[in-house]
Amino acid sequence: MLVLGVETSCDETGVALYDGAAGRLLAQALHSQVEMHEAYGGIVPELASRDHVRRIVPLARLVLAQAGKTPGDLTAVAYTQGPGLAGALLVGAAFGHGLAAALGVPAIGIHHLEGHLVSPLLGAARPEFPFVALLASGGHTQLMRVAGVGDYQLLGETHDDAAGEAFDKTATLLGLGYPGGPALAALAERGRPGLHRLPRPMIASGDLDFSFSGLKTAVATLARGAARDEQPRADIARAFEDAVVDVLVAKSALAMERTGCTQLVVAGGVGANRRLRAALDARGGASGFDVLYPPPELCTDNGAMIALAATLRLQAGLGGDAERGFTVRPRWDLAAAG
Ligand code: KG4
Ligand code: ZN
Repeated sequence: MLVLGVETSCDETGVALYDGAAGRLLAQALHSQVEMHEAYGGIVPELASRDHVRRIVPLARLVLAQAGKTPGDLTAVAYTQGPGLAGALLVGAAFGHGLAAALGVPAIGIHHLEGHLVSPLLGAARPEFPFVALLASGGHTQLMRVAGVGDYQLLGETHDDAAGEAFDKTATLLGLGYPGGPALAALAERGRPGLHRLPRPMIASGDLDFSFSGLKTAVATLARGAARDEQPRADIARAFEDAVVDVLVAKSALAMERTGCTQLVVAGGVGANRRLRAALDARGGASGFDVLYPPPELCTDNGAMIALAATLRLQAGLGGDAERGFTVRPRWDLAAAG
């Protein structure tokens, strides 16, 4: 079983080839649009779509060539069906359906977050069902109980901004460029801990939900008083990062306690955050759960997670979107995607 996966939901064109029988990734390629959007301080959807159009075919050719395969070897073509930017999603959907129709193989529409959810299976330490997943990306912050492929129970989610969105907005407040998360984390490395005390929103709410929009208001107030100098900005960055990490760790630990699961899987771009990883590992050690991450390069958007999700669905006897048809879902609940 050989599945080509394409990801075009946002600002990365990702293509990968997964061998289901061997259980391994054969090849993958990624083009990031970060430089293109940088000048605008954020993602320009129309430019994103056009760039996906330019990149997707050459990347698919490259991946097939790297693996020594031809289109005729493919069992299925998978693409991100949602959620994401509608125009960007349409590029992947059109490519996926076009290629699949030409080859006479199924086109499989995959939920972007399902891709992130299964991405730790691409690493050396593979989680076993059931596990809890913390999905923290630019668009989502959710805790899910994953009983199996396609069997997802939402435990809690953000009421407003996603964790990555909070990183990005706070980075803008501190005068850092796009994408803000990695830049803010780098600045926070030079910040002094404990200099500012920011709120830990909803940390004691007793449920598994989050709220991050208030934090940026708190940062805005601090940032107004901070000079352009690096040290005060770094101190604020550190305070912000510590607040987000504390909340994510506390809620994840509560989810582990409530579900009785012993493995926590962390996925999505924020999962690349070094301090979050260290804090989760420490809490897991103290509370008796293991924390698993995708390989660092597969934390952010990529085609490999889409190819893998489609492979697992096919192996589990779950179809793709033959009945859903050619459509994209810019807004789409993962719990409803099973
Ligand atoms: O999963 P992803 O690549 O795309 C979405 O599906 O959103 O996540 C991107 C998000 C962005 O908000 C980015 O700022 C954040 O992940 N991010 C980070 C780090 N690396 C990426 N946030 C905090 N620390 C990082 N090291
Ligand atoms: Zn993502």
